[in-house]
Amino acid sequence: MTLVNKAVALAGLGLRRDIMSSLQSLPAGELDFFEVAPENWIGLGGRLGKQFQAIAERYPIYLHGLSLNIGGTAPLDIELIDSIKQFIKQYNCPLYSEHLTYCGDGGHLYDLMPIPFTEEAVKHVAARIGEVQDRLEQKLVLENASYYCAPDQHMSESAFINAVMAEADCELLLDVNNIYVNSINHGYDPYQFLSELPLQRASYIHVAGHFEEAEDLRVDTHGADVIGPVWDLLKAAYQQVGVLPTLLERDFNFPPMDQLLAEVATIRQLQAQALQGQTLQGQAQQAQAQQGNTAKAAG
Ligand SMILES: [Fe+2]
Repeated sequence: MTLVNKAVALAGLGLRRDIMSSLQSLPAGELDFFEVAPENWIGLGGRLGKQFQAIAERYPIYLHGLSLNIGGTAPLDIELIDSIKQFIKQYNCPLYSEHLTYCGDGGHLYDLMPIPFTEEAVKHVAARIGEVQDRLEQKLVLENASYYCAPDQHMSESAFINAVMAEADCELLLDVNNIYVNSINHGYDPYQFLSELPLQRASYIHVAGHFEEAEDLRVDTHGADVIGPVWDLLKAAYQQVGVLPTLLERDFNFPPMDQLLAEVATIRQLQAQALQGQTLQGQAQQAQAQQGNTAKAAG
């Protein structure tokens, strides 16, 4: 039901108020889409509302929500879901993603907490995802989260994500920086973890920078440049899932726009390399098959 064409190489940037003014003069073609948190823009009028309108007329707007609280126990916020549905219709948004976390009950705490990795939680979260998908009449795309303590682990994180996604039949937002940050903080192999995820459900990718608090502690800040090992993980992700629309997440500590666009250009470069690799692989397979046929005919 998601409108994203999984085979399309697109690169986007998070739309933040701090960079709005520098976007007005952005040359066409530098970016393919913007991503926004709908909670920050729904019903916004005035100067910012007008600027948003102008951007939405030029670029597709992908949604990445903050306060759905899919893992929480408080009733789902139907008013919020309906207003997001309306926003999706109004701006023809290709995709609505959220975090596979909870953000506290009894209020929208913008602190995204990990869901306990238990069978009970799988059933609970999958039922809520189903409810949201029915209400929205489209699939929800959920992101593998970064976390610093795991409250109750009866299964591995990847087993949990697989179980939730199979039960709810939703899609995966693959955040390669979150995988990297978790791999350092929790001491696992990021490539192994990547391969364990339900990659056939991936429809969207995030790449971001983080803060190095200590050698064994990284904080998922989205406030720094993307580092080499995270780019390498993005490369590996393209090899495994194919090329997907990819967002550069930057939330604060903004460098000059040229620098941000250079990072977006790196996304494009990796997408082009991955597509070229797939083409060469396809040609090699075709040539091999032809050789096989010739040999059979000769035999
Ligand atoms: Fe993300």
